[in-house]
Amino acid sequence: MEKSDTFDGQTIYYKSSEDMSEIENSSIDTIITSPPYNRSKHYSDDTGTVYNDNKPEKLYFSFLSRVWSECFRVLSPKGVFFLNIGDSAKDQGISEKVVNLAVKVGFIRLQNIIWIKSLLGKGHYTPTGGTRRLNNLWENIYVLIKDKKEYNINPLNIGIPYADKTNIGRYSKEDLRDAGNIWFIPYQKTTGVSIKKGHEAPFPIELPYRCIKLTEANIILDPFLGTGSTLAAARYLNKKGIGYEKYPRKDIIQNRILKEEFRPEPPILIPHIVLTVQFLLNVIKDYQQLVPIKFSKFLSTKKEEEQIKIVREVLKNLTLSWSQLDEFLNLSKENNKKISHVPLSELLNEKKI
Ligand SMILES: C[S@@+](CC[C@H](N)C(=O)[O-])C[C@H]1O[C@@H](n2cnc3c(N)ncnc32)[C@H](O)[C@@H]1O
Repeated sequence: MEKSDTFDGQTIYYKSSEDMSEIENSSIDTIITSPPYNRSKHYSDDTGTVYNDNKPEKLYFSFLSRVWSECFRVLSPKGVFFLNIGDSAKDQGISEKVVNLAVKVGFIRLQNIIWIKSLLGKGHYTPTGGTRRLNNLWENIYVLIKDKKEYNINPLNIGIPYADKTNIGRYSKEDLRDAGNIWFIPYQKTTGVSIKKGHEAPFPIELPYRCIKLTEANIILDPFLGTGSTLAAARYLNKKGIGYEKYPRKDIIQNRILKEEFRPEPPILIPHIVLTVQFLLNVIKDYQQLVPIKFSKFLSTKKEEEQIKIVREVLKNLTLSWSQLDEFLNLSKENNKKISHVPLSELLNEKKI
């Protein structure tokens, strides 16, 4: 088996990240990873070798400690380490033990981000079933740093517009605010090829995408690459990514990095905003009095770029109450029949703007 591959500037080492001697000290800007959870998940390589995801706890912890030590060595003092891990319904508290191992090797805990996988029925998660526990809909993303004085993040890079526009100017000059440490990122697919072929636990590409944007990283590392999600995000943002995967499915990694269709989520002000904007695009003419945007401009302009800008404005300016939203969505069903459809996915393609 080849020891490494490079796909469009993204390098993958097919070996254990317990030894990352290919990487120089303090040379990585951002680390993003999700380690094996030690929960009998199924990770296997091209030859069928299966990773043992059910190790005795002591072995599991000593293995992770070796990887975290290497992460500490290679991360720049300016860098940030995003460690994603969730507790299973029955193994409450394992995540805390895993992050504490990272603290033991020298990392400083900055804060936690809560990654919500499913909210109010939107999104996918693994149901626990039964009557003894509620389903687990979120995971931790622990944010760790090496040096309190040196590290740097820019929350506005993944910011959202103000709901209350009178706040513009008070805290920032632009209509952009820190979106906070709760990230709602539903999976795009529930039964993708990666999941079926032996990698049970990829995270959505949007997750590493936000981490990279937040830290403005140029060189990114994922020591447990899995399907390659982190490098797919790095490639999308034209950054250099390095990954380690001891049990690789090379076709999956290559496809995820080079072919996965990824588009960042638009900034979210309210749930179902995509649906709402889709609707607005369809029926806005009838409701201009409720949403003060120049939609006639959108309809009259022929240049696609201009139209995209206007749709972005719609997203930024939209502040609806729940009841207005409900009203909109109900009306949309009735009105959709007579109004032509605009493909929102095309309009919101960030690369075009
Ligand atoms: C939770 S998965 C990571 C999933 C990844 N975030 C994604 O989006 O696809 C953990 C991965 O670590 C890999 N792994 C296990 N032991 C490893 C080791 N010693 N070195 C590198 N990778 C390892 C497993 O094969 C598995 O693919």
